[in-house]
Amino acid sequence: MSTFAIDNIGLLVTNDPELGEGPLGVLRDVSLVLDGDRVAAVAGAGAQADARLDAGGRCVIPGFVDSHTHLVFAGDRAEEFAARMAGAPYAAGGIRSTVTATRAASIGELTALARSRRREALRAGITHVEVKSGYALDVDGERRLCEVAAGLTGDVTFLGGHLVAPEYQDRPDDYVALVCGEMLAACAPSARWIDVFCERGAFDADQSRTILTAGRGAGLGLRVHANQLGEGPGVQLAVELGAASADHCTHLSDADVEALAGSGTVATLLPATDFCTRQPYPDARRLLDAGATIALATNCNPGSSYTTAIGFCIALGVRELRMTAEEALQAATLGGAQALWRDDLGRLTPGSRADAAVLSAPSYTHIVYRPGVPLVAATIRAGQLEWLDPEGGLV
Ligand code: NIG
Repeated sequence: MSTFAIDNIGLLVTNDPELGEGPLGVLRDVSLVLDGDRVAAVAGAGAQADARLDAGGRCVIPGFVDSHTHLVFAGDRAEEFAARMAGAPYAAGGIRSTVTATRAASIGELTALARSRRREALRAGITHVEVKSGYALDVDGERRLCEVAAGLTGDVTFLGGHLVAPEYQDRPDDYVALVCGEMLAACAPSARWIDVFCERGAFDADQSRTILTAGRGAGLGLRVHANQLGEGPGVQLAVELGAASADHCTHLSDADVEALAGSGTVATLLPATDFCTRQPYPDARRLLDAGATIALATNCNPGSSYTTAIGFCIALGVRELRMTAEEALQAATLGGAQALWRDDLGRLTPGSRADAAVLSAPSYTHIVYRPGVPLVAATIRAGQLEWLDPEGGLV
């Protein structure tokens, strides 16, 4: 196994308060030693290594864990976005136009599109992604999307319950039966999770429960698109069924906040979605003060949030969701890992996966202080240098 050292780190975020200062466990003027795909040690200058990268005093953080994406799709919906910016509301039904484009694309096209989005995410410092299906809504198509997603990540989510397929428009319960039967059987071998869009215009509480329960029966963990467009049953259902994550959480009652705070279900907030759909922002402060665990993710998809810019999501988290920079950074790293039940990700501690981002900045605060500026000089994933900004000044 070969070792790799990142030297001359001005500020290292470990996300382990036992290793360093404060909740982020920060250390100054250290080296990070990687052994194969794992973190070996945090060391002083001059640690032995087969290869090295000089961080030049920059800040190094754990790679971002993007725990909610829909990276596999064809087509775009720029016109729908423009109409929304001119005042049209966002509605669940827009998904249908992406279904048409995705069904028409070949597996080669879908793979190339998804890989290119994954590369874009690496440039943003995202070292791990969750990827959902949900834009085919038929058995073969959903299987195909799950298989393409499995080429990108171990955290594939089967989302046949994204919207009732157009062919089943007048027979939603038959569609739910298809999702729970043949479609689930086709997708479960390449998936780790099942998700459902529990929202007016998509699936109600009973349909969502049926889909989630079937997924659990097939050995999948649960995730729920909940309370995106209005208050509803999604969060309570997620908590009741022990879902890993309730995603969106834009409209929460006091009972929803209390339920999340008293549960192991992570509230995954997707502020770029609220930005792109002109929705109000979720109140992260209210959730954090109540004791809930929060993840921040991009929700990269063609309809409600066509972005891989996790730094932008962090800036929104601070400016609009009332998080501190520390809370927002942790939510996009450790929080994402918790939302995926991954204890090997989201931290830079001995034994964890060697996933890190070197920022073109002396501190993580710059992610918020310089909103929208691409600040990732290098991305290391599983010990491999996956992205090096040619202008980043690293050698
Ligand atoms: O998470 N809310 C449901 N699914 C996606 C949006 C899908 C779309 O509009 O294409 C989301 O926002």
